[in-house]
Parts: sequence; C-alpha cells; structure tokens
Amino acid sequence: MALANLKIGFIGAGSMAQGMIDGWIRANVVKPSQMMASAPTDRNLSKLRAKGLSTTHDNAEVVRSCSVVVIACKPYQCKDVLPALPFGPQHLVLSVVAGLRCPMHEAFLTPGTRFVRTMPNVAIAVCEGNISGVRGAHATDEDMVVVGKLMNPISNYEVMSDPQLDIMSSTAGTGVAWAAMVMEALADGAVNMGLPRSMAMKAAAITLVGTGKLYLETGKHPGEIKDSVCSPGGSTIRGVHALEKSGVRAAMMNAVEAAHTHVLSMSKM
Ligand SMILES: NC(=O)c1ccc[n+]([C@@H]2O[C@H](COP(=O)([O-])OP(=O)(O)OC[C@H]3O[C@@H](n4cnc5c(N)ncnc54)[C@H](OP(=O)(O)O)[C@@H]3O)[C@@H](O)[C@H]2O)c1
Repeated sequence: MALANLKIGFIGAGSMAQGMIDGWIRANVVKPSQMMASAPTDRNLSKLRAKGLSTTHDNAEVVRSCSVVVIACKPYQCKDVLPALPFGPQHLVLSVVAGLRCPMHEAFLTPGTRFVRTMPNVAIAVCEGNISGVRGAHATDEDMVVVGKLMNPISNYEVMSDPQLDIMSSTAGTGVAWAAMVMEALADGAVNMGLPRSMAMKAAAITLVGTGKLYLETGKHPGEIKDSVCSPGGSTIRGVHALEKSGVRAAMMNAVEAAHTHVLSMSKM
C-alpha cells in the first residue's frame, strides 16, 4: 500500500489528531488533501479545514471515504462511537485512545477488523514524538509496514505488547507534561535569580533537548552525564544535593506509578 494513495480519516479532531496531522504534514508523509476528520462540533474541525483537510460531522462518512481510520476521541466515548462505524475488509483501523487494550477495541469493531493500537505523545506535531504500537488480532504484516511508514517519520516508533504500551502511555505520553514542568521550574529558578523570563525559558528548553540528544547520540548513561558535569565541591553537585533532598527521583517515579494506576483503571471500563 503506497502512502501517496492512502486516504486517512480521523474520528475526533482534538489535540492528538491535530498533533498527528501536523507531524505528517511537516514530515511530508501525507498531504492535507489525503486526510479527513469528523467531530460533533466545528470547534476543532475549523482549524483542520484551515490546514486543507476535508471535514464532516458524520463519523460514518469518514469511514466510507478512507481506507485508514484513526480513532482519536476520548476513551469513555468509544463504547458508543466505535460500534456505529461501518468498517469492512478494506479498512485498517488505528487508535490513539489511552487505556483500551487491543481486545477491548476489537470488541467494539466489526468482527475481523484489521486493527493496530498506538500510543503517541504530542511531540509528534514537531516530528520528535514517541509512538508505541500493538498489533491487533487481524492486522497483517503489510499493515504493520504501513503503520511503520506513517509513524517513523514523526517519532521513535516501537511495536510492543498491550501491557508494555500501558506503561509507555504513563511514561512517554504523560511525560511531556512533566518535562514541561521541569523546564518551567528550571526557568523559574533562573528568573528567581534575576534572568529575564524569555531568556530563561529558551535556555531551559535547550538544556532538556540537548541532554536527551547527548544520551541518544553518545549512549552515555544519565549518571555518567551527571558525573561529567559535577566538579568536586562545585555548583552542580550542590544542586544535585538540593534535588536529592527534595526527592526528585522518587517524585518522578511516583508520577509514572500514579499515571499507570489510572491507565489500568481505564482498561477495566
Ligand atoms: N492529549 C494527549 O497527550 C494524548 C496522548 C496520548 C493519547 N491520547 C488519547 O487521544 C484521544 C484524544 O485525546 P485528545 O487530547 O485529542 O482529546 P480532545 O482534544 O478533547 O479531542 C477529542 C475529540 O473527540 C471529538 N469527539 C467527541 N465526541 C465525539 C464523537 N461522538 N464522535 C467523534 N468525535 C468525537 C471531540 O469533538 P469536538 O472537536 O467537537 O469537541 C474532539 O475533536 C484520547 O482517547 C486520549 O486518551 C491523548
């Protein structure tokens, strides 16, 4: 299946659908004219029309018009939305819905539907995302290749099991918010010491991006990166001590645990 011939539809047009659409347009993976979205109101659809997508308030119209359909509504809406969608053998269905494992999605779809569960984070909008995928019971090898071609240009994409994806959801999905909090707090510290806000925010952002790249490109363990900038009795190790006294590592691990507990509770809906 060549990407240039795909027609991709979105059921739901909110933050996650828009992130994926922005990423695909930016990475030149699919053109706006190849995409369509549905939602009950024009709140989000108007933004997609401005990007050149076609839109509708009728979810079934998206299914009739597209061969790849991405489910991007809220988890609690799936039990009403999914059974009403007229899927057939011509469709490959993807979902970004958190908490619902493959069998739960598949129970709402036409029996035999080719399905792949995915878990992106919002950084896909700038082609720096993380996407996890789980192969559904009826997805083919060719489907997995197509999903890889769609997801790789906008993310670090990996196929895994449903339980692993639930953990990824509580790490890379939610982690964007926590990284943003760390970035803001680092900038707040600089503003507290007298740096202008704009200068502080940019430096904090670049520091997070650069640290991630150092790990990804050199393979150095984070502890080694930390040790390499801590001179004896210096300012960095004093900051490390202050962070450890505040329980920074336990705080982050607690955040993942809290998010994962919530994801697991959604999977029991
Ligand atoms: N945001 C994240 O960081 C993130 C990360 C990973 C996964 N997810 C998953 O992505 C999904 C969407 O989240 P979101 O943040 O994009 O939510 P959102 O911004 O609230 O968007 C939800 C979209 O669903 C639409 N919708 C509501 N009822 C519908 C219906 N009956 N039929 C079709 N569409 C309907 C809404 O329509 P209107 O435009 O009319 O309001 C809206 O466009 C969720 O399942 C979430 O678990 C989100």
